[in-house]
Order: sequence, then C-alpha cells, then structure tokens
Amino acid sequence: MAKFIPVDPFDIVIFGGTGDLSRRKLLPALFHRWLDGQIPETSAIIGTARSDLNDKSYRAMAREACEKATGDVWDDKEWKKFEKLIHYVSIDATSEAADWPLLESKLTRDSERPCVFYLATAPSLYVDICDALGRAGLSDGNTRVVLEKPIGTDLESARAINDGVGAVFSERQVFRIDHYLGKETVQNLMVLRFGNILFEPLWSRNYIDHVQITVAEDLGLEGRADYYDRSGALRDMVQNHMLQLLCLTAMEPPNQLEDDDVRTEKIKVLNALVPIRGEAAKKRTVRGQYKAGMKGGEAVRGYSEELSGETKSTTETFVAIKAEIDNWRWAGVPFYLRTGKRMSHRHSDIVIQFKKTPHSLFGEGNDMANRLVIRLQPDEGVRLFVQIKEPGPGGLRVKSMPLNLSYAESFTVRYPDAYERLLMDVVRGNLSLFMRKEEVEAAWAWVDGLIEAWEQAGDAPETYPAGSDGPLAAAMLMDRDDRAWWEGQ
Ligand code: BG6
Repeated sequence: MAKFIPVDPFDIVIFGGTGDLSRRKLLPALFHRWLDGQIPETSAIIGTARSDLNDKSYRAMAREACEKATGDVWDDKEWKKFEKLIHYVSIDATSEAADWPLLESKLTRDSERPCVFYLATAPSLYVDICDALGRAGLSDGNTRVVLEKPIGTDLESARAINDGVGAVFSERQVFRIDHYLGKETVQNLMVLRFGNILFEPLWSRNYIDHVQITVAEDLGLEGRADYYDRSGALRDMVQNHMLQLLCLTAMEPPNQLEDDDVRTEKIKVLNALVPIRGEAAKKRTVRGQYKAGMKGGEAVRGYSEELSGETKSTTETFVAIKAEIDNWRWAGVPFYLRTGKRMSHRHSDIVIQFKKTPHSLFGEGNDMANRLVIRLQPDEGVRLFVQIKEPGPGGLRVKSMPLNLSYAESFTVRYPDAYERLLMDVVRGNLSLFMRKEEVEAAWAWVDGLIEAWEQAGDAPETYPAGSDGPLAAAMLMDRDDRAWWEGQ
C-alpha cells in the first residue's frame, strides 16, 4: 500500500499546457496523485497556451494524454471527478494584449494558498513570462515558479535567465527542475550512502579506485531533432542529469535533508570539478555521433539521416568524460561519465569500483576488488559484488558474485514517476530536490570550458553504429587507464 502525505489545496498554472511535457508527464503525474488521494478536490489545474481551446476541449486533450500514460490504472469514474479541476485559458504570455485578469479570475487568490506557475515552455520565454506575471501582480504571496531544463545554453544565458526570473521571484520561490532528482533510485542514493554505516568509511580515495556514471539510452531523436541538434549530449544530459548524479555520489554528508543543506554540498562538488580545457579535452573526453546500425534486429537510421537539414551536423549524440574532483576526499579518483543515444540497451548505472585488496592470498588472476553497482533504471536495484569461494574440489577458486537487491523483487508498489514527487514538493514548498541558481551556473561554467575546447579543436565527433556501446575511443579512454566500462551485465 503506497503511503503519501496529502497536500493543501493549490492552484497550478501550466504555461505550455498543450505541449509534449504537459501531455506526457505533467497532467498524468497530477492524475496519478489524484488517484492516490493526494490532491484535494478544491485544487485547480489551469492549462494555458496560445491555442484556441476551452475547458471542454482541453479536458478532452488531457483525458487522452492521461489515459495513454496511466495504462492499467486508468479509472473512468475518478477521471470524471478529476477533470472538474482542469480549466483552460488561452493566453499569449509574451503579448501586451495577454488577458491576465482572465487567468487571475481562475485562481483562488489567497495569500496562504500555494499557487504554482509551471513554465513548460521554451526557456527563451521564461523571463518574459515572469515579467508579465510580476506586472500582473501574480508573483506575491505563496506563489512559486517552476523552470524546466535547459536553463540557458551556456553560463551567460543561464545567468540572464536566473537574473531575469530573480527580478520578479525570490530564490525561495524558484523551483528549477532536474527530473532525475525525482527518480526513486536517485533518491535512494542518499539513503544508501547515509543510511548505512558500511559505506561511508570506504567512500573516498582511500578505498575507491574510480567511479563510473553511465546513462545509456537506446532511443534516438524521438521527434526532437530541432532542439537536440542545437543542444547535443553535453548540454542535454551532462550539464544537468549526469552532474547531479555525480554530486549525489561525491558530496559530503549534509547536516540534514532540508532545502539548502543538500544543495550547498552539491555546489561544493561542482566548484571542485577540475576544469577540462584546451589540450586536456582531447585526452579526457570523447564525442560521438551515431551512424546507421541495428536495433532489435532491425536497421535504424543514423543521426544525420534522422535530421531533415542539408548540412552535415557535428552535434554529439554521445559523450564520455574523465572528470576529477579536486578535494580531500576524491583527489586522484577519476569519475568517468558516459551518456549516449541509440546505444545497445537502456541502462543507467553508478558503479563504485573499490580498490584491490593490498595483498593477494589467493593467487594470480583473481581480481580481489569489490564493486557496488547502483542500477538507476531499468531493473532498479543495488548489487554489491563480493569475492566468494567457488564451491567444489580442485583448489581454492575465487569468484566475484553479487549480493543482489532488486527493487522489483523487494517491493510491490508502483514507482511513481519523477514528476509526481517533484510536483508535490513544489506544492509543499520543499526545495531540496530542486537546483539552486549557483548549482546551475557552476555546472554551466564547467561545461562551457569543454565546449570551448571542442570548438577550438574543431574535430568532428567519432562515429559509432546505432545499437552499439559508443565509439571505440570511449573504450580506449578507459583502456588507457587499464580499466573498462561496466556494460550492465
Ligand atoms: C531529458 C533529455 O532531460 O532526459 C532527453 O532532454 C533524455 O534527451 C531524457 O532522453 C532521459 O530521461 P529518462 O528519465 O528517460 O532517463
């Protein structure tokens, strides 16, 4: 039986209410929370966009989206109650003529009641929308604004967004989403690290050889060519999700789990990342782009064929980085990051590779090193590889075997989508799983150095066949250090 803490009645206004994110994630997440009884029936969900819809047609769109996303748990009776919460206001948020009083008339204006403005729009509109909300007198009281990634395309543009939004909303009203922080298994990282006495004494350069963080996707562009080709894997995945995973793996234990305690520790890690600039980028990074290949026995197109344009794109769909954190705990321990589209299979893992035992009692060829594999998705779980004696006669043979904790076998509850948790945290005003502006900016500062180095080098990305584990150069990056990627066996 799922446990949940009810939230107070609230209003949420979704800018970009007809867009992909609203249909695939936000509306279904709210409906799931309704099904679990978490959302009070006096709450209001107001979709806004430029399209000329009304409550009825927007509810029909929302119904289709929620029915598709909720599958087995779809409940027609509950939908009929839930849809009464949903309204639509057609608004061009950037236009002088936008009808803010109409939007305001749909809100319960009460200084205590949470009112969430969710900006599921292009980031270039964030500042304009916030300005307009401010001018319309809608930024005071218990209001909050949610910003989706990407927040900018580099440090300068991220600062401009943060400053523009900050001129209207205080930092405590700004919720910068990184949906990876809402994933159950990502939250479990903190529980695993700080809820078990076992790991912390070993969690440092003294006992850890290296760390690998992989987020491999088997999908390609999924109709997002326009955005993706301007972004690439570094901006799309590393600047946010991958660096957040690195922070949670590497940060010091926070004093408590309140908003700023965790965020402050993450910022310290980002500030300790060794910049990768100039020549170092050649040695420490690999950019890749998929070419045609196979997926599940079927031929799939290469990246450039998936794009409709004429010019050959040099955007990376894969990136591998050997990162280092310059602090007492991690000096000299490489953090290998790897992410890519159209890889052999979907798997996201954090691998903590411990050092070998200082002395081998059991002879050559026996690898006496423990490994902790935290599987974020799919088949969520934790595996701790330990050495054991292979039973039977014929000498003492040692084998590395996993102590296996599988989420699916251990828990029968449905895993809520990351957005379910994050949306309810916004309503509660709990900022701990959202990024502070300094976090976003520190991550961009590091990523900007890499982009600049790549631009200076002017090399085209290495290619890799769709359906493979990335370019050869990524394997070489590890091989040079006498290490190998964990392929999720
Ligand atoms: C998004 C990226 O932020 O995360 C996508 O823009 C990527 O390109 C997605 O596919 C991955 O998220 P998840 O939850 O499917 O691992």
